Amino acid sequence: MAAAIGALAKKLMVKALIFGPTYKEMLHPEVLPTAVRKQAEQARANELDAANLFNITWRAPDNKIRHVVLPKALTGVEANIIVLVGREFPSGSHKVGPAYTTLIEGELTGEIRPGENTIIGPSTGNFGIGVAYIAKLKGYPVVVIMPDQMSAERYQRIRNYCGRLDLTPGTESDVILVLERTEEYKKDPRNKVLAQFELLPNYRFHRYVTGGSALEVARTYGNGRVAAFVAAPGSAGTLAAGDEVKEKFPDAIICALEPRECSTLFNNGRGTHRIEGIGDKMVTLIHNVLTTDYVMLIHDDDCVMGLELLQRQQARLEHCLHLQAGALQFLHDVFGISGICNILGAVRLARLLRLGPEDNVVTIATDGFDRYPSVLQDLARRKGAVSKAMLESWFEQIFRGAASAEILDVRSDGEKQRLFSYKEATWSKFGYSSAYLESMKNQSFWDSEAEKIHQLDEALSRARRTTSTVS
Ligand SMILES: Cc1ncc(COP(=O)(O)O)c(C=O)c1O
Repeated sequence: MAAAIGALAKKLMVKALIFGPTYKEMLHPEVLPTAVRKQAEQARANELDAANLFNITWRAPDNKIRHVVLPKALTGVEANIIVLVGREFPSGSHKVGPAYTTLIEGELTGEIRPGENTIIGPSTGNFGIGVAYIAKLKGYPVVVIMPDQMSAERYQRIRNYCGRLDLTPGTESDVILVLERTEEYKKDPRNKVLAQFELLPNYRFHRYVTGGSALEVARTYGNGRVAAFVAAPGSAGTLAAGDEVKEKFPDAIICALEPRECSTLFNNGRGTHRIEGIGDKMVTLIHNVLTTDYVMLIHDDDCVMGLELLQRQQARLEHCLHLQAGALQFLHDVFGISGICNILGAVRLARLLRLGPEDNVVTIATDGFDRYPSVLQDLARRKGAVSKAMLESWFEQIFRGAASAEILDVRSDGEKQRLFSYKEATWSKFGYSSAYLESMKNQSFWDSEAEKIHQLDEALSRARRTTSTVS
């Protein structure tokens, strides 16, 4: 890597690159020069101002990690359910983080250069939105490859960032078609693929930035530790935060969630489902299955109905739970469908593990409600108006239900082997050698990938010093 970085220094002098933060600055933006921080803050008024790159962080301007703690009247469990809030990231979801780190690492090794390359973003939506956004800020043309049956709001966002869409048939669960289409783009060396399912900058962003943020936020609740980290994998980038949590708290439980309708990690199942962004019918290359302890299934429509309850039926839900009017207002707009999936998984895990008031369960709301109005309109068409009886029975089923049959312990060697085999079957087809796949069976592979962050940060800092354009 050192040689590649050296070669880069020269190239950087030729063409202006637009830089952004290091990994460390994303976890700790407070270390940025005050002027850069201020510029970033002002840039929030104009989404397309490149200074927004410095807003890629879980932190608000006051340096606090953006999060909510769910009311216990809602969760029905004693443990603290802490949710990191992703919708305030530029472009509206934390997926912009891996899009940025994958592109910047490509620039740092000299692989990707503005004016020479087109960026390709294989996605089910949010990563594609993030890629289109980052490419726009950094001056690249971009093609987003995604299934043709995702929410209408996603396509619109990508078009707003001047991204070209290449749609493959199907839904969330047809990502493999997206990957196959991506292979066609790879034939032209001018196309550079930000491959979220395969490339480790996604792992690095979430392990270091999301994991570090999860650990920090938990410090102020309960016993200050993280008892469990829960996330529904799409690329499984977010799940990498669990590796950071486990490094600090080896006893912490890491739980991956899947739609019941597409139970790939659970039992090699495959099917279509309604939770956009997750359940992609594969074990992704960057999923460190060694640290995943449990897999839990969540019924997809529980998530859509849960979103209806928290978003549109809030006042009636408050009444039903004997809460003060407005007590749930702070949750308005905070969740998308996968965010509801994550909180249901967190609540159900806390219940199954009998966690107490000192225990913290951390999870994630990847994006907010802004990209799902069409999904709730569809729910209204399917189910009709929500009566009082419906509201009460939905609430019971969604927030109080938890079947122990729907959680699987994957800590045994046999289960790890099953997950490795599934991974190998997918990725050997895309040219990954058995030696590389074998190396992923060792935790040292993942730790050494995380350790590269220091070197990458130094390279970026150096590159910023040696060129005039630091946006
Ligand atoms: C809405 C939503 N939730 C969850 C995820 C899953 O996150 P990850 O890809 O980090 O596993 C995605 C990924 O695109 C997403 O768009």
